[in-house]
Amino acid sequence: MTFSKAFFDLQLQFAQNVVRLSGLPLAQVLLDYTNLYVRFGLGRAFDRDHPVWLQYLAGLQHTDDIDAWTYPFFLTRQCDVPPPSIVATFGCFSYALSTDGYIRLHFQNAEATGRSPLDIECLAARMEELRSLFQHVDCAQPAMLRVAGVSWLYNIPAYRRLFPPSYLASVRVAGPRFRNLPLWGQFLDRHGAVRQGMVAPFLARLSCQTDMDDIARCFPLQALAVEAPVSDFQDFYESQRVV
Ligand SMILES: CC(C)(COP(=O)(O)OP(=O)(O)OC[C@H]1O[C@@H](n2cnc3c(N)ncnc32)[C@H](O)[C@@H]1OP(=O)(O)O)[C@@H](O)C(=O)NCCC(=O)NCCS
Repeated sequence: MTFSKAFFDLQLQFAQNVVRLSGLPLAQVLLDYTNLYVRFGLGRAFDRDHPVWLQYLAGLQHTDDIDAWTYPFFLTRQCDVPPPSIVATFGCFSYALSTDGYIRLHFQNAEATGRSPLDIECLAARMEELRSLFQHVDCAQPAMLRVAGVSWLYNIPAYRRLFPPSYLASVRVAGPRFRNLPLWGQFLDRHGAVRQGMVAPFLARLSCQTDMDDIARCFPLQALAVEAPVSDFQDFYESQRVV
């Protein structure tokens, strides 16, 4: 996926509104309320003194067109940004081990046909990837007993149908994820373009905000958190198997 300029412009527009509403400095808002730091390939430490981050901020001092500086800067940084601490990848899915003892599931588009990875035609392939992933967990991580995920994607029926009922039943709204794709990803299609249908309601709500209360509610979809035992996943994918 090639992230479009519009995806960055949208985040910068959000950041400028957060500055207006909060009175916080722009540099802090860009770090805490956008996905830029991650997209520049700087990891997840969100170190305000990272030399590349400082280089980006220095460029802002010499322009009054923040959009025109940011996207070319991103293009100079073009790099694959995998989620942190990935143990293994199976097509669109990968997993990491969290320090609090969970298998953390991650999703990104790796569908080779050009179809949506969430298309019904790809359902069997996604299920097979998840079955393989949980076989790997069974062999390689016998001590890990629970699975957790956080994403806007858990709002979407085409994504939810890939997971066991107990996992979906545990759903709750996660804390704000302003720095992360599990929130910002809702504005993207599989090619990296911005979904205009999501942008209009977002900007309309943002323009009505008078303070920072409920700023997360401007996003059409919230990041949702889910969790369930590993054994529920293994049982679910075995029961879905076509013999
Ligand atoms: C997930 C992703 C691949 C979907 O993009 P896409 O394949 O172009 O999406 P499509 O428009 O073809 O839609 C596929 C299905 O998802 C639904 N959908 C996708 N994005 C949606 C959105 N923002 N809101 C509501 N529904 C959405 C569509 O309605 C469709 O469902 P249907 O088949 O039941 O009608 C894309 O959003 C993406 O790559 N996002 C960035 C990565 C990301 O967010 N990763 C999660 C990090 S945790």
